Amino acid sequence: MDKLLQAEEALQNAKKKINNRYRLGYHIMAPANWINDPNGLVQYKGEYHVFYQHHPYDENWGPMHWGHVKSKDLVHWEHLPIALAPTEDYEKDGCFSGSAVDHNGILTLIYTGNIFIDQEKDILDQSQCIATSNDGIHFTKEIANPVITRHPEEGSGHFRDPKVWKHGDYWYMVLGTRKGDIGKAVLYKSIDLRKWEYLGVLAESDGTLGYMWECPDFFELDGKYVLLFSPQGIEAKGDLYNNLFQTGYLVGEYNYETNEFVHGAFIELDNGHDFYAVQTFLDNKGRRISIGWMDMWESNMPSKEDGWCGALTLPRELKLGEDNKILMNPVEELTLLRETERTVCKNHILSSVYFVEIKEDLLELRVEFDLAKTSAEAVGLKICGINQEKTTIMYQKENKKLVLDCSKSGKEEDGIRSTMLKSDQLLSLRVFIDRSSIEIFANDGEVSMTSRIYPKEERLGVELFLENGEAQVIDFTYWVLKDIWR
Ligand code: FRU
Repeated sequence: MDKLLQAEEALQNAKKKINNRYRLGYHIMAPANWINDPNGLVQYKGEYHVFYQHHPYDENWGPMHWGHVKSKDLVHWEHLPIALAPTEDYEKDGCFSGSAVDHNGILTLIYTGNIFIDQEKDILDQSQCIATSNDGIHFTKEIANPVITRHPEEGSGHFRDPKVWKHGDYWYMVLGTRKGDIGKAVLYKSIDLRKWEYLGVLAESDGTLGYMWECPDFFELDGKYVLLFSPQGIEAKGDLYNNLFQTGYLVGEYNYETNEFVHGAFIELDNGHDFYAVQTFLDNKGRRISIGWMDMWESNMPSKEDGWCGALTLPRELKLGEDNKILMNPVEELTLLRETERTVCKNHILSSVYFVEIKEDLLELRVEFDLAKTSAEAVGLKICGINQEKTTIMYQKENKKLVLDCSKSGKEEDGIRSTMLKSDQLLSLRVFIDRSSIEIFANDGEVSMTSRIYPKEERLGVELFLENGEAQVIDFTYWVLKDIWR
């Protein structure tokens, strides 16, 4: 039987058995079973397409397929048939991550063919492949695959996750690789997406930036160049690098003539628990939009018991702020999700806990504190269950830290993440809650924190709180959001 049909059938059967308790209402997920990285983000014939690493046969990772959704507005997504299944010898152990481009009306996917030489010992033989489509739904693998058969001298068989873009007359491809324990990004160039010329190493670890760089992406942002990637093996340091693997970036100047990339230090892109393998694309409004995998390898994923696992983050627009730091905010279209609006208070002096009953579990909250007029040592909000459960977002004045505590909402171990905010004048929070996820955007995207939560209790409401003193609340408004999948 055709491998795609077989996968589709397995998926439809799995869908019937799903338990909905943690299903998300407005995020990209598969109809059932496992997903990880976002792949092939692209706008094609006026619609947004997103693919994802998918195992349609099981709620655990396995031979990778490419799942597929599309949308007209980055908000309402529709599932399409599985786009790629591993069918050929060169990809026998999976169609791994990659990207997509519109090549004169032909939607072209560029992905990694994975072969396990010895899976236990992590020895791989990876190559780069192409598949094309005229309708954006059905894909044909190139006869000449793999188009890059072997890694360069500077790399190894860990050679994956091609991101392709056009500059001038040429296509460029950045890939992640490693040599020994040095993670790197390497660059190629092509006139036709088929024949690729190796240009060299774009950037590599100095010994502190990880043993393998996954899912690189390279783009211009507000006049600078950004190398975004997901390094494995950076050691935790205080509030930094606390997840198993990270996603972050280097900002600098790039010269296409010499392939020289002069950049600053590595910066984590998000400070929550579940944010990885992030990719971006440029849309026809000129926006640089990013989407990530909203989970982390080896973390506790209770939705597996329910027959599904994994989701992608909300689409977020990237801009370059002061000090070459990326600002990340949800795309403006997400206001389309808002169903009802309620302003709880404005310009209110808070001297004790303020509780608001909100039973819905698909929410956007806007909470602003005037810190200059706040004497309290800490302020924040708790999203409370009917009993003991809560997810807490707290700002500590003394050290200017924003703290996300999920230890009482399903992350009993290692439930806390913290990060510094620059301003001590204003705290403005935009928080998206979608049953089993929380995404926090603080001070206009200066900081974001993304985590999965797994509450078992019904929702009771949201509490504004403070510690020792008074607080000036500028605004507390919330919206009940729509479930796009119902
Ligand atoms: C990142 C990653 C990629 C790889 C894919 C496999 O999460 O490990 O490097 O292509 O997942 O599913």
